[in-house]
Amino acid sequence: MIPTVTLADKELTGSEEAVIIPLFKDTRTLKGSIRQLDRICDSEISRYLAEGHFDGSAGKTRLLPLRTDTRLCHVLLVGLGERPKLDVEKIAHYAGTASRQLKGLKIKKAHLLIDLAPAGAARKSFLRAFLKGYLLARHNFNLKTESKDKKPAAETLVISCGREKARLSRTVQQAKTIIDHIGKVRDMVNSPANTMTPDDMAREARTLSKSCGFSCRVLNLKEIEKKKMGGILSVAKGSVEEPKLIVMEYNMDRRRLPLVCLVGKGVTFDSGGISLKSWEHMNEMKGDMAGGAVVINTLAAAAKMKLPVRIVGIVPCVENMPSSRALKPGDIIHTYSGKTIEVISTDAEGRLILSDAITYAREFNPSVVVDIATLTGACLIALGTRIAGVFGTSKKHIQQLVQAGTATGEPVWQLPLDDTFQDMVKGDITDYKNYSGRYGSSITAAALLAEFAGQTPWFHIDIAGTFWTDSSKVSYHSKGSTGYGVDLLIRFLESFSSRTKR
Ligand code: BES
Ligand code: ZN
Ligand code: MG
Repeated sequence: MIPTVTLADKELTGSEEAVIIPLFKDTRTLKGSIRQLDRICDSEISRYLAEGHFDGSAGKTRLLPLRTDTRLCHVLLVGLGERPKLDVEKIAHYAGTASRQLKGLKIKKAHLLIDLAPAGAARKSFLRAFLKGYLLARHNFNLKTESKDKKPAAETLVISCGREKARLSRTVQQAKTIIDHIGKVRDMVNSPANTMTPDDMAREARTLSKSCGFSCRVLNLKEIEKKKMGGILSVAKGSVEEPKLIVMEYNMDRRRLPLVCLVGKGVTFDSGGISLKSWEHMNEMKGDMAGGAVVINTLAAAAKMKLPVRIVGIVPCVENMPSSRALKPGDIIHTYSGKTIEVISTDAEGRLILSDAITYAREFNPSVVVDIATLTGACLIALGTRIAGVFGTSKKHIQQLVQAGTATGEPVWQLPLDDTFQDMVKGDITDYKNYSGRYGSSITAAALLAEFAGQTPWFHIDIAGTFWTDSSKVSYHSKGSTGYGVDLLIRFLESFSSRTKR
């Protein structure tokens, strides 16, 4: 269970169950509440540090059991390493380690003492990252029957922040909202395709729209047919699951605010269709709707945070299955834009549904269209599992996204897109084809999307490498969905709203 977070300005008494003290390498002098606690326990903490038992090396932790007058207090020292080398990914990772350690000790209430952690302007980003790691390390998705009856004890993390309480409470509140929705993305992505169908996606979006304050419409098969969205319809044909096009709007009546369109790939299962995938890892394709889940939850978090920006979220949801009614290699699709695409591989389905969604997004006349999708296995090969690929026509916005990636510890790396790649997606008998060979195939996928974005500023984020993890090397990940994308897009939207003239 994810702990509750509160802020406190009260002094420590020594009767705390546990305290967490993040500190830089070679810290010897204690400050604030930490010094005060040290006094209560006869300088045991400072003596321990002075004797060199713990030097604050990066990622190292040490648990000191302290006997105060009132009780046994667990002091967890967390090494932040050298100051210039610390970044938000590391902070979150170390916080996750601390979180797991305290969970193992069955601590119900832990106090985070921030007096030796980054201060000033860096304080807020430290807290955002620390909470992300600490809370997400406790997130788990588990449908084991035995765990149902065991009710986990409620846990609390108290941030001891003295006089800074007022200054930090908004930051903490916002971090909690973002983390909550990262958790929701994880749950949606980890949910199997039999319980996370296009219809289920639409239900999630509707439910969130009511609780968070944005609007939500869902176009069904008939309405999608009426609009002649051939990309979405052709991929959906092979499945008994009806396609849905989720359209969400936030702040649309505030016409003077800049408008961003967020588009997310919502393939609730990608078998490959007639170009069937091999069985290995096919189960992970229940998560091919990760981009869609990110868009839904980014809207939800942005609405809760009341970000001063207008957002339209568009999520085309389909299931990609082989059947006698399925799309076939060689078929020609008439997309919503009017352009034709020859299907070379039915497994390159993401770009087909996104081409319609991007065309639709342009009708809202946004300042920028952003799409996020588990688009190509080649992106995983190129950039690995930590960094997402970004491609696009809008330099300025891509720069903002790269900065958001650094600030949130959800990094992105730009890959090239130019006329040579645009030429590669031209069809032989149609306007375009949906597959242009293995070489540079993340880029050619993006190049096809670029054709549909046209003159509208646009960029595309390929999260095929980052949406999932097989290991729990990162302390706040667990096997399955990572929830990558919400924090990144929220930070992008924050910078977007503050930098764009209204
Ligand atoms: N959903 C997959 C991409 C993917 C692969 C996401 C691995 C996450 C992990 C996409 O629809 C796909 O099948 N892409 C093909 C494209 C190819 C046929 C051009 C791929 O990457 O192999
Ligand atoms: Zn796919
Ligand atoms: Mg596919």
